[in-house]
Amino acid sequence: MSVNITVVGSICLDFGIMLPHLPVVGETVLGTDLITPVGGKGFNQALQAHRLGSRTHFFGRLGDDAPGRMIIDQLENEDFPVRGLRVLKNEKTALGLILIGPDGRNMIGGFSGANMNFNIEDIDQNVYDALLLSTHLILQLEIPDEVNLAVLRLAKEQYVRTILNFAPYRNIPEEIENLIDIFIFNEIEASAYFEREIRTHEDFFRIRDSKKYLFEKIYIVTLGEKGAAIIAPEGEYYSEGIAVDSIDSTGAGDSFVGAYVHFIASGRGYIQSIDLANIVAAESTTKPGAMPGMPGAARIETLIREHNIDPDEPDE
Ligand code: RIB
Repeated sequence: MSVNITVVGSICLDFGIMLPHLPVVGETVLGTDLITPVGGKGFNQALQAHRLGSRTHFFGRLGDDAPGRMIIDQLENEDFPVRGLRVLKNEKTALGLILIGPDGRNMIGGFSGANMNFNIEDIDQNVYDALLLSTHLILQLEIPDEVNLAVLRLAKEQYVRTILNFAPYRNIPEEIENLIDIFIFNEIEASAYFEREIRTHEDFFRIRDSKKYLFEKIYIVTLGEKGAAIIAPEGEYYSEGIAVDSIDSTGAGDSFVGAYVHFIASGRGYIQSIDLANIVAAESTTKPGAMPGMPGAARIETLIREHNIDPDEPDE
């Protein structure tokens, strides 16, 4: 039986250029390829959960322009549910400008456009109905705080579990933090939030002595090729990095978030969900672009066998 997950957040058209090396300030580097997949952290996370088999309810905003039409064309081929997409008149669609180096690392400059014109009137009956069906809600920080807050209040009324991907990092109102059950950061975001350097899982496990740490919440950090770590009331766990031939790491964190929530919503334990999400995120880096690289359920079944993971083994 498929699980229901609501995602409210950003959607962009990404322009990814493959480069022989990342430029320094003032330098021009000519690329070898250009890709234009749909992106945006909210959309990427929803798409990964959808590809793994979740019934995903995504709410996002587009402008009525050429990039917006390119997004809709691509989604029609993807079989991705578009009911929650609204096209705003006289608004520009958000864009992601992504420079990808030869080792798969990237630099992203984003234009927010319609994403930041999401407003609280958009948290309407359709969102309410989606939350009624859902066990989990995923949010990020590419839309306004008041929208995230409005949807969080609704989610809490429905006892929906709430996940915030703290990306891109900014200070947010305390009320939002209080309504979140699971925080997911990358190293940069975790370092900014806990106001200390977090580069390894050992650094991360020390956040327990931070004033920001709360016992009842779950904290996860993704560490790029070094894997991911979790601190939960049940315990802490480090999932080592998975070696792959990485071509483009764009959206690997989003792939991790969508996969992790898919697996916990499907009833898997916190350790296994991290291990599986880690495999999904690593695999997502083996093709250029976030959307093209995100694996589906069949591919993950094969990888689970290759990695000798027993998908039915409960957490200790
Ligand atoms: O996390 C990757 C995403 O960040 C890209 O798809 C880009 O659109 C930006 O939002």
